[in-house]
Amino acid sequence: MTTTAPLVDIIAGARPNFMKIAPILRAIGERRADPAIRSRLRCRLVHTGQHYDARMSGDFFTQLGIPAPDVNLEVGSGTQAEQTAAIMTRYERLLLDAPSALCLVVGDVTSTMACAIAAQKLHVPVAHVEGGIRSGDWTMPEEINRLVTDAITNWFFTTSEAANANLRRAGVRDEAIFFVGNTMIDTLLANLERLRPPAFWAEAGLQPGGYFVMTLHRPANVDDAAGFARLIAAVGAATRGLPVVFPVHPRTAKTLAALPARPAHLLTVEPQPYLEFNYLVRHAKGVITDSGGITEETTVLGVPCVTLRDSTERPETVTLGTNELIGTDPAAIAPALDRLFAGQWKTGAIPELWDGRTGRRIAEILERLIVR
Ligand code: UD1
Repeated sequence: MTTTAPLVDIIAGARPNFMKIAPILRAIGERRADPAIRSRLRCRLVHTGQHYDARMSGDFFTQLGIPAPDVNLEVGSGTQAEQTAAIMTRYERLLLDAPSALCLVVGDVTSTMACAIAAQKLHVPVAHVEGGIRSGDWTMPEEINRLVTDAITNWFFTTSEAANANLRRAGVRDEAIFFVGNTMIDTLLANLERLRPPAFWAEAGLQPGGYFVMTLHRPANVDDAAGFARLIAAVGAATRGLPVVFPVHPRTAKTLAALPARPAHLLTVEPQPYLEFNYLVRHAKGVITDSGGITEETTVLGVPCVTLRDSTERPETVTLGTNELIGTDPAAIAPALDRLFAGQWKTGAIPELWDGRTGRRIAEILERLIVR
């Protein structure tokens, strides 16, 4: 452990990371500025460059007030192994040239795993925010990232009792687990009043409760053209002519372009910035998705969420929240939406500690762990 002004690397690489680091950075900054605390913790914000488009990255920094990264590793796109190798190689070089006292990673993207490995091999301890969650589905790259990262993490910041239980089952000691809540929800609650309609809202005639939001980007749903076409047709038929706002992830755009036909009420738009996307979600009749993070946001916003997956690493969004897993068979979409239209969707409750204060808890614990 270092004796003076320890440096913490905060790693972010892909879109779902950015809303998770924002409250941690803010809380560390507040503790440094508070004369009663005078924290000496310093941050180095490392962007791996896994996502690089303004729509996937820069817009989030601007809207969420995240400072410009101190370092950008600029790895760009590639296969899973190419991306992992590029991030490891460049982050290792950074640590060799300018070591840090702790590597803090968030979520489950390739950058999370790659930086954890590079750090741990150089004996830099790793803290994992959102550690311990498991889908059990090894076909998802995120699940591999979670398993590998957690196998070499020193300190876990967890979002749920389910995550704590998974870690204990894997033999993690209680002292290494900090149940702190959900930083993604910190960001949502901090920005609720700032959410704003996208530019196309009026032109598209959108009304609160009068449209759906859909996001699809998992390889299982979007990489096969025929399967994707069946999914889109089923959504078109089940949504009864209400607009379906569909922000299209770059990966999905390739399959979408090859579709022979699409429903007239499918409104395809670019990936949305944070404030516009969550405005759309907050006022939607329902959300249709294969994302994990969005199921947390719909749970807190009380918006019905239909998840096109067989498993979830976030079971509390189903047991407590408004989320339901219907699998990837297009035939399951109509019965689910029929229940929604009939007003029979569950209302849900908010999970423990998803209260907007998680970033502060993490900053306080980090200081205890590494400032001596
Ligand atoms: C990644 C995460 C996923 C997360 C998603 C959110 C992993 C394994 N997956 O998946 O968990 O839900 O981000 O968006 O880390 N591309 C662009 N511009 C960009 C970034 C990507 O055009 O700024 C295109 C590239 O063609 C790239 C493809 O999108 O090949 C996929 O990007 P990649 O980062 O490999 O994975 P995601 O599918 O975005």
